[in-house]
Amino acid sequence: MTAGIQLRNCTEVEEFRACVGLQKEVWGFADNELVPLRIFSLAPKIGGQVIGAWEGETLVGFAFSIPGTRNGHMYLHSHMLAVKAEYRNSGLGRRLKLFQREDAIAHGYELIEWTFDPLEIKNSYFNLERLGAMARRYNINQYGITSSPLQGFLPTDRLVAEWWLKSKRVKALLANQVPPAFEEKMRIRVPVEVPTWKADPTTRQKAAEVQLRNREQFLKAFAMGLACLRFGRDENGGGVFVLGCWDEDWSYASK
Ligand SMILES: CC(C)(COP(=O)(O)OP(=O)(O)OC[C@H]1O[C@@H](n2cnc3c(N)ncnc32)[C@H](O)[C@@H]1OP(=O)(O)O)[C@@H](O)C(=O)NCCC(=O)NCCS
Repeated sequence: MTAGIQLRNCTEVEEFRACVGLQKEVWGFADNELVPLRIFSLAPKIGGQVIGAWEGETLVGFAFSIPGTRNGHMYLHSHMLAVKAEYRNSGLGRRLKLFQREDAIAHGYELIEWTFDPLEIKNSYFNLERLGAMARRYNINQYGITSSPLQGFLPTDRLVAEWWLKSKRVKALLANQVPPAFEEKMRIRVPVEVPTWKADPTTRQKAAEVQLRNREQFLKAFAMGLACLRFGRDENGGGVFVLGCWDEDWSYASK
């Protein structure tokens, strides 16, 4: 289904306008919470990326990132990755990320970061298992409570994904589908019901309780120097973050 889709860096204002439209469609944000056309147009001019996936004239996915620096090192913050609903689960999200990685390396970047909701089982699996990102930082209520129904009106707690583009972990995972082995130290669980609980105002409190419990566990684990390195499923289909010590020394001192 996605074989005829072409990926390219966007340069024209109409391409950026299509990204704003797809952003609205995917997240359902109110207009005043959308990343505006002006920022999409600006990003590639200042070292960021707007990568579009096109089926003919139709934009069916995009990846958007902006440059950042930490302790004198430059990196990319990938703010959004979107695939039109009917094109999901066919490998297009991964293709966009791999294109993003190649483009970043070509421009001298070693790190792409992004944040993700650790209650989202699919995204957690995609980031840790399919891309080889790892997480060792946790931001509490990063954006405040937003208008996106995807976020279930809960505090926007986020894990920070670090994608060390040239690390042994990422290279091994992309080459063999398996990251290097490590000693498991802890597990943090996400019940399979969380998306259903989040979507319904009468059960949302249960999702909020899981978020609070997991928030404490992540903060405790990260204070001990652990990182989320794998993501598995339990017997009911729930998500399981598997934590251990990351044995590579890539870091821009990330606190
Ligand atoms: C996140 C997103 C970009 C992924 O795009 P995609 O084209 O579906 O991604 P891919 O098909 O490359 O990979 C998705 C993987 O998740 C798997 N998956 C799908 N549903 C899943 C679920 N409920 N639990 C676990 N894994 C799941 C797919 O099987 C696939 O893995 P595989 O390659 O091993 O089969 C897309 O789902 C999206 O636009 N979501 C809404 C916006 C969003 O949340 N963006 C990310 C945060 S900024």
